[in-house]
Amino acid sequence: MKSEELKSGIYWVGAIDWAIRDFHGYETPRGTTYNNYLIDDKEPTLLDAVHHDFVHISIDNISRIISPEKIKHIIINHIENDHASGVEKILEIVPDANIYITERGKKGLNRFIDLSKYKVNIVKSGDKLKIGQRTLLFIETPMMHWPDSMFTYIQEENVLISQDAFGQHIASIERFDDEFVKNNSMEDLEDAVIDYYANILMPYGSVIKGKVEEIKKLGLKINMIAPDHGVIWRSHIDKVLNLYSSMVDAKAQLSNVIVYDTMWHSTEQMVFPIAKGLEDEGVPVKIIKLRSTPKNVVIKEIWKARGVIIGSPTLNNGLFPSVAELLTYLKGLRLKNRLFGAFGSYGWSGEAVKEMYDVAKAMKLETFEPGIKVLYKPSEEDLAKCYEFGKAFGKALKEYHAKI
Ligand code: FEO
Repeated sequence: MKSEELKSGIYWVGAIDWAIRDFHGYETPRGTTYNNYLIDDKEPTLLDAVHHDFVHISIDNISRIISPEKIKHIIINHIENDHASGVEKILEIVPDANIYITERGKKGLNRFIDLSKYKVNIVKSGDKLKIGQRTLLFIETPMMHWPDSMFTYIQEENVLISQDAFGQHIASIERFDDEFVKNNSMEDLEDAVIDYYANILMPYGSVIKGKVEEIKKLGLKINMIAPDHGVIWRSHIDKVLNLYSSMVDAKAQLSNVIVYDTMWHSTEQMVFPIAKGLEDEGVPVKIIKLRSTPKNVVIKEIWKARGVIIGSPTLNNGLFPSVAELLTYLKGLRLKNRLFGAFGSYGWSGEAVKEMYDVAKAMKLETFEPGIKVLYKPSEEDLAKCYEFGKAFGKALKEYHAKI
């Protein structure tokens, strides 16, 4: 894949990772890209590096535009390994380049690379760097995605280099949103944005909301958003900004997702009458079986729905391991504004339902109680109770959704 011109003199020089399917535990069926950008100005400037396994591709892309030895400045917007681990290789070529990074970025990157031998400049929000015809404005965006993160805005071109924000895990031949939509669909692209946000940025929703407001107040005109993963936004900027506005408020649709796992199908038998009860209340339902579905897809579906009901058998006096794993992940993602319910079968002790509610309460989710548990195998009477549970949950969910 060759470099691509975003605007006159501004190039994508990144790499496409077609093969990756496990991105630190996040399943990426479409692969991903590591985007970085080169500005060929009087003082050539590289914005971000890439994953170290792909840095030779980025260097090759740069070579097609200028000799890499000419790079004068390196901007490090985010120090996570997928973006900054390639910088050492670039610094071997240009050890005298000026590095621009936030204070937290320097502290963090210093744990990976000995920065003492390089020219490191600390920048903060509002600082500018003139590189010739263009001026770069730095905007700190802590926790979007890590404490070190920042955006770089190319003033004269109205281009925002947004590192992780607005990204998607998509490896594609298309570099721009309109190209991707033309060959795929807008729904595909939106789905990738939601998947990425729900699994990576969800915990920082309130921080991101504040930062988006702050950026709006700066009155920056933006006609291109170039993230460090996936396609570059040039035709659907309002779409992705609106999507983010709704996501930072944890908005959800009036629907319910039932996520469950099962040992001998008893918990599974409880799923269908619960779903029928919800459906009879007019609430759309999705059913997901753990261990058959990638974790990030489960999270994305939970993110979309206002109601979440989780089913787990009791195993060894506790949760079924796959359910425990999901709840641990969900807790870390700090899901909010959802109605939660739980159910499950058990043999003798039956702690799973209570443990699921304990986690939901620790997450400060609204809970619908009591949950429902069944000894060994649901009887006809138990199945009728499951249906009633689904109906009652559906009613409560509609009221809760109207309040939010
Ligand atoms: Fe794509 Fe937070 O790294």
